[in-house]
Amino acid sequence: MNNKTVLITGASSGIGLSFSHKFAGDGHDLVLVARSKDKLLSLAEELEGKYSVKAHVIEGDLAAPRASKSIYEQVTAKGIEVHTLINNAGFGLFGEFEQTEIRKEVDMIQVNITALTELSKYFGKEMVKRKQGQILNVASTAAFQPGPLMAVYYATKAYVLSFSEALANEWESHGVEVMALCPGATSTGFKEAADLQESKLFQSGVMTVEEVVDEAYKQMINQKKVVIIPGVKNRLLAGSIRFLPRRMVTKIVRKVQERI
Ligand SMILES: NC(=O)c1ccc[n+]([C@@H]2O[C@H](COP(=O)([O-])OP(=O)(O)OC[C@H]3O[C@@H](n4cnc5c(N)ncnc54)[C@H](OP(=O)(O)O)[C@@H]3O)[C@@H](O)[C@H]2O)c1
Repeated sequence: MNNKTVLITGASSGIGLSFSHKFAGDGHDLVLVARSKDKLLSLAEELEGKYSVKAHVIEGDLAAPRASKSIYEQVTAKGIEVHTLINNAGFGLFGEFEQTEIRKEVDMIQVNITALTELSKYFGKEMVKRKQGQILNVASTAAFQPGPLMAVYYATKAYVLSFSEALANEWESHGVEVMALCPGATSTGFKEAADLQESKLFQSGVMTVEEVVDEAYKQMINQKKVVIIPGVKNRLLAGSIRFLPRRMVTKIVRKVQERI
């Protein structure tokens, strides 16, 4: 890859933060998006100092309905051409559906689905016109089956996977690559943000954020798979559940997610 600008949502922590270092390390200019402006500003300073790239900061709450349009307009006003879009911002919520807060779930749908779709549309249209570009949408291994006790989160990630695979097919002939990254449990701020401390989900097989991003980055550059599942165990699990009855898989997921 050479110096093409990469826009990363959710760049302030976890997977997005690690992607920011990875791309900057390879000489790419960046547009860093998240709510935590202070974290983004100090990250931008660090990346510019370490790697001699330009890092722009855009503060944005993707749960706000007009945020994606505003981000697109700010990028356009700066005259930046986004070659690679990493739709990474997202969060989950653990708990029985009758007890969780609908406000959080509506925000989750807005961030995980609506903003990701809008940003893909705004920046993707320009990539199609230029006949080059890349979009990486961060889904999850949650995308492959229903997830009792995190019902809305799993459903949002099923959308991300399906949407990305379809778009990859549509835009292949336009020179635009679209990929879905499907990590399993990864050590980031996600667990706390989703209230998952009491769940069994993060008890074993948790990957480090560097392992996930290294693998994703290699796949993006070299192998150009549409669906990227980091980790052998995650790939085996995602593959094997296809052969089991869906109702049985749903029961197994519930067991894995239940409180310790
Ligand atoms: N960690 C896992 O086990 C795991 C597994 C599979 C998939 N994923 C997916 O990976 C992606 C990144 O999560 P992570 O694990 O890196 O978790 P994380 O450390 O909690 O990071 C989440 C990022 O999303 C941003 N974000 C959250 N809500 C936002 C909003 N309303 N507007 C703008 N930005 C927002 C956060 O920034 P601010 O708080 O500064 O806004 C933060 O940078 C998510 O899509 C998640 O679903 C994670």
